[in-house]
Amino acid sequence: MMNSPQTPVLITGGAGYIGSHVVLALLDSGREVVVVDDLSTGRREAVPGQVPFYQGNVGNGSLIGRILTEHGCRAVMHFAGSIIVPESVERPLDYYQNNVVGSARLLRACLDNDIEKFVFSSTAAVYDGTAGGEAPMAEDAELAPANPYGRSKLMTEWMLRDIAAASNLRYAILRYFNVAGADQAGRSGQYTKAATHLIKRACQAALGVLPHMDVFGDDYPTPDGTCVRDYIHVSDLAQAHLAVLNYNGNGDRNNNGNLTLNCGYGHGFSVTQVLDMVDRVARDMLGTGPMQRRMGPRRAGDAASLIAATSRIRATLNWQPQYDDLLVVVTTAMAWEKNLMDVMKA
Ligand code: UFG
Repeated sequence: MMNSPQTPVLITGGAGYIGSHVVLALLDSGREVVVVDDLSTGRREAVPGQVPFYQGNVGNGSLIGRILTEHGCRAVMHFAGSIIVPESVERPLDYYQNNVVGSARLLRACLDNDIEKFVFSSTAAVYDGTAGGEAPMAEDAELAPANPYGRSKLMTEWMLRDIAAASNLRYAILRYFNVAGADQAGRSGQYTKAATHLIKRACQAALGVLPHMDVFGDDYPTPDGTCVRDYIHVSDLAQAHLAVLNYNGNGDRNNNGNLTLNCGYGHGFSVTQVLDMVDRVARDMLGTGPMQRRMGPRRAGDAASLIAATSRIRATLNWQPQYDDLLVVVTTAMAWEKNLMDVMKA
């Protein structure tokens, strides 16, 4: 059977931050899903009760093979992986093991089970963002990751291209820029206890969970000296996944049904601009004063500026973002963070 709405989609890492939002988007649209997650960073509660759930690692080929056969999956979305840039600089081999070896084993199981479509969570970290300047990155820009995390993702992109050329598997490589925010209905959000991401940490600082906010470098070649990123709301990203699933080549002969797409909004905000917005939301939502900021040195592996060129995704998928507004991104992130804090206290 073709990858039709009736065939469940296997979601690896479906208990994690982005994966869980994609699970919700697919369920909301009437698709069936199956989740595999080793719960190393994900949470079982993030997956709705009606979804078949398997606790296990993507590197476990026999488990993956069994799931694909039992559920008759024809499409796989691969979110599971290690995602923290500074951690990848300290523990590179863990990143190659989890992201490259894990993906290779998963792909083997996919080929053995005639999977037709493979959607891969890649990253803007595959680009060379060290040069500075705020020019958006097009998909055919130079690929020169600044850290082991980005390299591990690029290696998997290469595997996919080679495999697609030698089999019936078709891929969609989605290069995420900085994903943030939370489901507007509060059904999911970013959970990670020891978070490293800017918006989550800033919300924690505003709520008093963290004593202050560190700004990692103000001497970058950017307008205010702090790093610039393209922050995309996680629910818009989830909708892009749904659109990819429904993409059938649309008569495009150039790519043979394969896709490589940036996922971002096409404009960036500096660390300072983001912290200003978090202060504003904290004032309006919580009635609190500005967080304490501490200027510090640069963080290893950070690119100066990463902004997506978005014409390809907009043209190919007819994708229309709903939340392209930093106020909305930060408000949903803060609401989620506040709820988490209230749950912890209860
Ligand atoms: N930052 C701070 N203080 C903090 C946390 C972050 O100043 O406490 C700064 C960082 O130095 C960086 C910016 O905020 O300049 C964004 O940092 P994040 O850690 O939020 O995100 P990264 O840009 O490092 O990485 C994220 C994802 C990657 C993805 C990348 C693409 O983690 O998976 O975005 O741009 F590849």
